[in-house]
Amino acid sequence: MNEKIQVISKYALQGLDVQSLNDAALAAKQVLESGSGEGNDFLGWLHLPSSIDEPQLQAIEKCAAQLRQECEYVITIGIGGSYLGAKAVIEALSDHFAAYKSANGPKVVFAGNNIGEDYLYDLMDLVRGHKFGIIVISKSGTTTEPAIAFRLFKEMLEQQEGKEFAQRNIIAVTDARRGALRGLATQEGYATFVIPDDVGGRFSVLTPVGLLPIAVAGFDIRSLVAGAVEMEQDGDEPVLNYAIARNALYQDGKKIEILANFTPRLHFLAEWWKQLYGESEGKDHKGIFPASVDFTTDLHSMGQMIQDGERTIFETVISVGDQQHEVIIPNDDDDLDGLNYIAGKNVDYVNKMAELGTRLAHVDGGVPNLIITIPAVNERFIGQLIYFFEKACGVSGYMLGVNPFNQPGVEAYKKNMFALLEKPGHEEATKAIKEKLKQ
Ligand code: PA5
Repeated sequence: MNEKIQVISKYALQGLDVQSLNDAALAAKQVLESGSGEGNDFLGWLHLPSSIDEPQLQAIEKCAAQLRQECEYVITIGIGGSYLGAKAVIEALSDHFAAYKSANGPKVVFAGNNIGEDYLYDLMDLVRGHKFGIIVISKSGTTTEPAIAFRLFKEMLEQQEGKEFAQRNIIAVTDARRGALRGLATQEGYATFVIPDDVGGRFSVLTPVGLLPIAVAGFDIRSLVAGAVEMEQDGDEPVLNYAIARNALYQDGKKIEILANFTPRLHFLAEWWKQLYGESEGKDHKGIFPASVDFTTDLHSMGQMIQDGERTIFETVISVGDQQHEVIIPNDDDDLDGLNYIAGKNVDYVNKMAELGTRLAHVDGGVPNLIITIPAVNERFIGQLIYFFEKACGVSGYMLGVNPFNQPGVEAYKKNMFALLEKPGHEEATKAIKEKLKQ
């Protein structure tokens, strides 16, 4: 078994001149590694895995152990980069039906990643009468969605379990100095973890932003980090292959990249990836639109569009080597469903044939197919995948000619929302937006 993820581009690049992009990719990698490009004050993730030391890991594990001991639920509050990494890793590593099974430790649930009133109501209903803890994560410390959720659950926890329990079981992950959450945590005496200044939200999963909730969920953060270190130290080949291939395809008119998996546990990994690439590359009216599908489920919904729709897409398949468990399809004497031809095979064999069949069909249909192989879904290989995607994103963004490390466009909706909510300090904008709405 190959012990590292690989990128296979032979089904994607037929007829394309990738030679000319090799130099551009090497130049972009050099700009990234030398810190000479735009956004170079946000490169703390580049050598983050190898810089995580024993005291940092121990502090996270100790805090996680305390929450695991005292809480039935741990509500992880955050949005965007302060949510998706933890959610992706926990979902990838968890039993698919963990929510319905009793577990040896708290259930990690998420809030502050939307403003759904019923969502919050239902979550409050879930934790009412149960001991729960809160990990509140916000780099800026001022984001509205997590701030609302935190206000609600902080008050609920204090009323339900008392101030002392709440103080012990609320953990803040935020900036070292700035922001409302830092001030609040100091005032209330909460334990805190720091998000480094030079690590942006979508690159922060290997900081306490991701590591703490992942450890609380019971997973091995040391293996996760070790996997990322492997790619940090020896991952340039797949990184360059991926960055070159997607830029070659973009230049050839493929404006949409669909990240596909045949492994249901990877659904949220794709959500994390969409943020990573969407926020990094969607600038200056450029960028590959990142989309995702779960196969074979979505072959029965999006399959037609991919096979026969507008030819502006390419597909990147995360192809997983081994499943964790084996399920054999039984023989049936009557064979009324006609399935005896695959009796005795394991389910993953059928899935692999679906994967191969889909690739052949999509390539025939004009959808270039990139493959990222991952030997298995476990902490180590998810760690590899995270760092691989992060570094390839930096290289790819520089090849595209954008600053991959800012996200100015995210502010536009916030300005309007604050104006509409009549937030103090936004009076002019409120007046302007009211005028606009009258037109
Ligand atoms: O990647 C990013 O920078 C964003 O998605 C942020 O993570 C998100 O907006 C949440 O910000 P904050 O952590 O400041 O609450």
